[in-house]
Amino acid sequence: MKLFNIFFVAIVCFSSVLTVPVNHPAKNGKKQNEDYETKHINIINKYSAESTVLLRRNKDFPLKANEKKISLFGNGIRKTIKGGTGSGDVYSRTFENVEEAFISNGYKILTKDFLDEYDKVYEEAHHKFLEEINSKYDNPIMSMLENMGAKMDEPEYNIPYAKKGDVAIYVLSRISGEGTDRAVKKGDVLLTDTEVKMINTLAKGYKKFMLVLNTGGPVDLSPLKSVKNILVLSQLGVVTSQTLVDIVSGKKYPSGKLTTTWTKYEDYSKIGDFGDKDDTYYKEGIYVGYRYFDSADVDVMFPFGFGLGYTDFKYTVESAKLKGEEFRVDVSVKNTGKFNGKEVMQLYLSKPGKTLDEPYQILVQFDKTKELAPKKSDTLRLKFKLSDFASYDTATASYILEAGTYIVRVGNSSRNTTICGQIVIKSKIVVKKLQNKLGNPGFKDVTLHSKKKDSKAKLASVPKFTLKASSIHTFTQSYNKTYTVSDEVKALTKEQKASLVVGAFGVTEGSSSIVGAAAYTVAGAAGQSAMVADLRPIIMADGPAGLRLAKDYYIDETGAHTTDGPFAALIDVLTDEFKEMISFMNPQIPEGTTIYHQYATAIPIGTALAQSWNREFATVCGDIVGTEMEIFKVQLWLAPALNIHRSILCGRNFEYYSEDPFISGIITAAITNGVQKHKNAFVTMKHYAANNQEYNRYYSNSHVSERAMREIYLKGFEIAIKESKPKAVMTSYNLVNGVHTNESKELTNDILRNEFDFDGIVMTDWMSGFPDNQKYAIPYANNVIKATGDIYMPGSQGDYDNILKALEDNKLSMEELELSAARIYDLAKEIEN
Ligand code: BGC
Repeated sequence: MKLFNIFFVAIVCFSSVLTVPVNHPAKNGKKQNEDYETKHINIINKYSAESTVLLRRNKDFPLKANEKKISLFGNGIRKTIKGGTGSGDVYSRTFENVEEAFISNGYKILTKDFLDEYDKVYEEAHHKFLEEINSKYDNPIMSMLENMGAKMDEPEYNIPYAKKGDVAIYVLSRISGEGTDRAVKKGDVLLTDTEVKMINTLAKGYKKFMLVLNTGGPVDLSPLKSVKNILVLSQLGVVTSQTLVDIVSGKKYPSGKLTTTWTKYEDYSKIGDFGDKDDTYYKEGIYVGYRYFDSADVDVMFPFGFGLGYTDFKYTVESAKLKGEEFRVDVSVKNTGKFNGKEVMQLYLSKPGKTLDEPYQILVQFDKTKELAPKKSDTLRLKFKLSDFASYDTATASYILEAGTYIVRVGNSSRNTTICGQIVIKSKIVVKKLQNKLGNPGFKDVTLHSKKKDSKAKLASVPKFTLKASSIHTFTQSYNKTYTVSDEVKALTKEQKASLVVGAFGVTEGSSSIVGAAAYTVAGAAGQSAMVADLRPIIMADGPAGLRLAKDYYIDETGAHTTDGPFAALIDVLTDEFKEMISFMNPQIPEGTTIYHQYATAIPIGTALAQSWNREFATVCGDIVGTEMEIFKVQLWLAPALNIHRSILCGRNFEYYSEDPFISGIITAAITNGVQKHKNAFVTMKHYAANNQEYNRYYSNSHVSERAMREIYLKGFEIAIKESKPKAVMTSYNLVNGVHTNESKELTNDILRNEFDFDGIVMTDWMSGFPDNQKYAIPYANNVIKATGDIYMPGSQGDYDNILKALEDNKLSMEELELSAARIYDLAKEIEN
């Protein structure tokens, strides 16, 4: 029953004077896009095919202009998924499913009967599923909490599917989301028997057949060896279906590459644990994703960095140089096929690995060509600095480049590269002297060694450079960065200071909704800071697939409220009976009240954005979000999310970019640059750090070595800070080596603020009100502030009381409180201008 309290923390009434809510524009009808929406959809449409990855192809696609009759199959035809569930779901005004998109583009669908039958199967199975998951609970609240993110596995069925026409497309969807991990069972990671049978039969029976994956992450495709055309469409937000039609018709072409390895489930590493309730041991250390497959010499179906287009490319290394510590290579890429296309070139580094164990290779740079017509070429220059990819040596607490030969490889996938240079380092270089900060995971990381050998002839044919040791200067980290607290902040009362470091709470009766919607100034925004000393509150709204706000809302004297009640984001898992039981909590909206709309543009999910390997596309998406933040008066976007795809089973992987930290950091920086060029629009990178599973996410302890933390799980954050100065960071729910990340002064102050030189604010993930009833305690607001976190979210009376009590008990000093209060105060002041 304790969990029940969580809800009342968020919806308890508490009177306070509110600002006049911002008058949002989208007042007109629901169906008609406004200018900003049309403009944003058009922009995304220009790039979206770049996020799709062609895994297999023959010459059957694109279709010819006269091939307009088409058979459509699969769960993704009518229930096309634009993004995942949970706080990452974004409300766009319009969305066409795949069937509608083909029809509106002039295609005749030959399988309407099949699709109608499938709808019936789905409805029946879904009804059964809801009955089943709710039957264990006697009240809807417990059911919602425990079933958050629960999704039905694709059902088995037997519907006749006689061949009609020459062309068939099967769209296979899988949804996932916050609160629940994916499972290795049929209908989720594995294909159902029905899917295997149907897809193989259709592939044989039709003249032209394409399998399309409308999923946020990998599905085990191993039973589909004979399928010749496979496209990872991914989930592209509002343009998902139109993009598919454009690719099938040849108006566009795929040019994305995988940012996570797709292979049969048995191939994925089982060295570390996943999904344990309390403790998860990251025994694989740095061997995550391709670092594992390449080092353990595992053959995979579709490697990291792999993706085909409709055309073919040939690449040639033009020249390679070492200038100081910067290696650069010029590669020319020629379109040798018959269609237009774009190619991605990737640079990998193999380190000597003599004293420190090293992965076979790591990604150090990438770039994408411009669009190339047949026979046309483009030359890309790829460069990187060796010191940026030094290895962390825990024994000496330093980043080092050990002596030996470093091999640089260039190619269009991690498994299709050629050596383009060698760099010799004569004796060990210490790049940075730090301190170990992250505790002991309780085990030694695994070590792996690939047996692959580079041919001597090849090595002899590429340039070999010797690095001058003097080109890298050892940097010694200090940990005493300070922040100036203004007299204005010092003059505030202790109550005002405490209010600043706790998200605004209990301000309005029946305030908006629960999950990620605790703000009252902008309906459906996830949270806001308190109004102290006439400061404007800082409004925070979720992402990452766009700006998440309530689509319908009304305004009264207490603020802006969603019309769909406090449980809107959670009730999908309830039976009608349970829904009815909580309907009394829905807002009583007086007749005649004006209902306003806030529609935002759903952009591609994080993984899809990264799959474009196109920084410009990420910046353009950031720009769209930044524009909408200005329109709806939101200052902090709770995105980008850049946790690493450690296991394909993590339920929120779709929000994240990759199994590789370099591309994760670069895409984060690119999107941040797009958002933050807007006035008073800033990003919040999340979830810092090692938040790699959803199961028991508030209390789960990730045991990770200092080296793996630094080289894999923190690296993307470090890169993004360096490249784009994000304004805010959200800590994660989980613990790292026994300490909650938000209570870790080492993670927040020492590493983030000092080592990475982060200058912004640090907020917790949405914590308030969770019960302290598990193996690991929940984090407390006073500890978070002591660790130099700035604001405890979403905020509750209990958190506020906790701060004042800690002051009284000398568990928190006034200086510590002022430091965090000042950072929130200063940001609130900044956005006033
Ligand atoms: C999620 C965050 C999200 C926050 C606010 C949490 O449950 O983990 O990613 O930003 O809610 O909605």
